[in-house]
Amino acid sequence: MFNVRKTNVDAQFEVINQSYETLEVETLTPHIGAKVRGVDLSQPLTNEQARDVHQAWIDWKILVFPNQHLNRDQHKAFARRWGKLHVHPMQPTYGGDEEVLVVKTTRDSAYTSGDGWHTDVTCDPVPPLGSMLYITETPASGGGDTLFADMYLAYQMLSDPMKEFLDPLAAEHDGAGPYVGSYKSTPPEGGYPKSQHPVIVTHPDSGKKLLYVNRGFTSHIVGLGRSESNAVLEMLYRLIDSTPRLYCRVDWEPNSLAFWDNRCTQHHAVWDYWPNSRYGERVSIVGDQPPRH
Ligand code: SIN
Repeated sequence: MFNVRKTNVDAQFEVINQSYETLEVETLTPHIGAKVRGVDLSQPLTNEQARDVHQAWIDWKILVFPNQHLNRDQHKAFARRWGKLHVHPMQPTYGGDEEVLVVKTTRDSAYTSGDGWHTDVTCDPVPPLGSMLYITETPASGGGDTLFADMYLAYQMLSDPMKEFLDPLAAEHDGAGPYVGSYKSTPPEGGYPKSQHPVIVTHPDSGKKLLYVNRGFTSHIVGLGRSESNAVLEMLYRLIDSTPRLYCRVDWEPNSLAFWDNRCTQHHAVWDYWPNSRYGERVSIVGDQPPRH
């Protein structure tokens, strides 16, 4: 079976701005992902550059800045331009600088972080609004890309009756799912965070609706029977798993920084390079409000 044009989705295609005063932007797909040149992230941004980066980030959802040479403080300073830095719930397990999540995979790793579709830390009552991953070592074999999926488009691809059904619902997001279930970490006292968020969310900056459940953290839809909830979530996850049109793919070069809008995307690291290694550091920015319908 192959895809055919679906008129209800095509009708909602928008032409996204690609022109910014202080940046050069090369898009990865027509709706998600852009490479950005013309800005040195090791230096404080001017107000004009910060305005353009913010607008390009809202427009393209995930920005990749190639050829950046940053130390940890410069990485954090760029992130702080957008808010306070987030401390990951698993940080006591990882140790080190509590604002930096080391994303390191070697031949001895039991897992690579984020090797499944997810939105970062949606178990938090106010999940991070964005994350910045700075990759300095890519696998010698190639591979180690990251996929990003556009949750505005996922929402638009639902039929009108399905949108109406999902519209009033909320879902629970549970940190124990990935952190204990997948990564086998020992939970902190009181357990990992659990939070309820609407299934359909309105982005606070763009004002557009998007689908806000993810295989990584969402445990169930509140108010549905367990088998009903599993069936609905599986249908939504299958839409994401099986629709390449939702994605862009970041093919990392060493010393690139990706900045994604965690409020309207999901991502999936691809561990296709064992026994080779990959190294990066991620900082996330605390959200300024909970996801709202
Ligand atoms: C993550 O989920 O933040 C890690 C993504 C990656 O390593 O590509």
